[in-house]
Amino acid sequence: MADKRSPNERIKEKSRYLRGTIGEGLTQVETGAIADDDTQLLKFHGSYMQDDRDIRPERAKKKLEKAFSFMIRLRLPGGVVSSQQWLKLDDIAEHQANGTLRITTRATFQYHGIIKSNLKRAMQAINDACLDTIAACGDVNRNIMSSANPFLSPVHAEVADLSRVISEHLLPKTSAYHEIWLDGEKVVDEGGKAKKDSEPLYGEHYLPRKFKIVLVVPPDNDADIFAHCVGYIAIVEKGKIVGYNVTVGGGMGMTHGDEDTFPRTADLLGFCNPDQAVAVAENIMTTQRDWGNREDRKRARLKYTIEDRGLNAFRKEVEKRLGAKFGKPKPFKLTHNGDTMGWRQGTDKKWHLTLFVENGRIKDVSGWSLRSALREIAELGVADFVLTGNQNLVIANIPAKSKNKIEKILKSHGVALGATSAMRANSMACVALPTCGLALAESERALPGLITKLEETLEAEGLRDDAIVVRMTGCPNGCARPYLAEIGFVGRNPGLYNLYLGAAFEGSRLSKLYAQDVSEDQALDLLKPLITQYAKERNEGERFGDFVIRARVVAATEVSNQFHKDVKRVND
Ligand code: HEM
Ligand code: SF4
Repeated sequence: MADKRSPNERIKEKSRYLRGTIGEGLTQVETGAIADDDTQLLKFHGSYMQDDRDIRPERAKKKLEKAFSFMIRLRLPGGVVSSQQWLKLDDIAEHQANGTLRITTRATFQYHGIIKSNLKRAMQAINDACLDTIAACGDVNRNIMSSANPFLSPVHAEVADLSRVISEHLLPKTSAYHEIWLDGEKVVDEGGKAKKDSEPLYGEHYLPRKFKIVLVVPPDNDADIFAHCVGYIAIVEKGKIVGYNVTVGGGMGMTHGDEDTFPRTADLLGFCNPDQAVAVAENIMTTQRDWGNREDRKRARLKYTIEDRGLNAFRKEVEKRLGAKFGKPKPFKLTHNGDTMGWRQGTDKKWHLTLFVENGRIKDVSGWSLRSALREIAELGVADFVLTGNQNLVIANIPAKSKNKIEKILKSHGVALGATSAMRANSMACVALPTCGLALAESERALPGLITKLEETLEAEGLRDDAIVVRMTGCPNGCARPYLAEIGFVGRNPGLYNLYLGAAFEGSRLSKLYAQDVSEDQALDLLKPLITQYAKERNEGERFGDFVIRARVVAATEVSNQFHKDVKRVND
């Protein structure tokens, strides 16, 4: 009988638990690349092979191979690094990568531009900082993100702890990572023989597709709970976490022109006690392992399993495996899927500064040397650093007496404490060009300029301090969660975007397609009058995403899977 499984299933199966020939490939000096199958396996180790797309034509003309390099993504559940770790991570950016660190939309770091001969060294340096990259990409449970700042209160700390415990529990058990990256050290048993690997949770086929978990502490939805496979909403009574509302089936990716693929907001599965939380994650994951689609990777995420099998059947199966029933979800209120910027004081009186980092890129440019500023702050040794899921950075745990010093350092490097507008503070763009092989259009390099142009209108209408969530991605995979933005741009072709409007400010409702294949200028021509109309006609406290629905600019996507329904494009 024909094997209908996707090619990736066979690659995983014959990989000897994620080894493939990665080790050998690293030693081949005649190419900057590694073998095709290994590029799929490398993702499970937290790295992607990429090439510099800006110089592709020039290299092709000279008959040179592409300018290959590697992206490395850290596993950083809870998103915290100490000052000492910061300094080590900064060194890696300088010596092995392209001189920048990037805070990702899922609250971890990425490095770009690491050439093959530096890859192992970079992995070892990450290990030296007591960090790793295991399962940061690939068909496994990925980095777990939790409500941004664990130092704000004991409740936040407990949620961040849970993210670390679940992350450890769901880690692949293969020793391939240590063997390949940490100096070829082979894991041996007591008799000195090479240990045979096994993956008790995953098996040799791992998951059908990536799997993402987040945790939030209401009222913040800074981790965008409805965008993820599994979510935990902490239910707090009298200052204590009494349990979690569990969500399942969120996800962003889709393919242009294929309505069988769609972004989906997660559904509430039920309520669990704190001591059930780890087992719940495991049993949801193993149900997806067994029920997920292994033939068509475009329909392999948990969101499609929930769509195809139904939420009730899924819940029943998880309860069977768990040996317990979920309770009824408890009431909760989320208010915003962005970050609270500026200074905040924690319950222990320490101070925390949430700093806007445009598109998460930590670098030095003339007049604005954020990377140097943060290095200097880390050298003081008085703070910790927390990454947010909106690509921003919290400089945390600052004693009151060091506040001024930190502000001074930032100022001396030209780094403003806040963004130029509330719209910019609520903006995110994925990496896209030149590194992402899937990008159809610019994103990180395009959004800042676009926002500058929108700021003229915001200023004229008195809306500079009104938060509007704007997100852009270079392709429909949706790494910056554009379908949960009040204004979303998704790349279609170089210079052309689909424009989506009408998502909820707190992140619970998807947007709707408003215009297709528009240039940046055309998008501005469409958006500016809408912003003006919003300024004049909005109700008290009404958000832009809600306004465009009330004003019948777009229909609301009320049901999680109705993204492609009721679309009336303005440029049809
Ligand atoms: C479904 C198909 C998807 C594919 C094939 C995909 C692939 C990629 C690739 C190749 C990159 C590397 C880009 C670079 O650094 O140069 C990337 C970045 C990233 N992706 Fe995805 N992605 C997908 C969907 C998503 C979704 C839905 C999310 C989040 C909900 C996500 C989160 C991220 C994050 C956090 C990064 C790091 C860079 C950033 O923050 O912009 N991805 N993705
Ligand atoms: S959204 Fe597309 S272009 Fe942007 S990083 Fe993700 S895969 Fe690349």
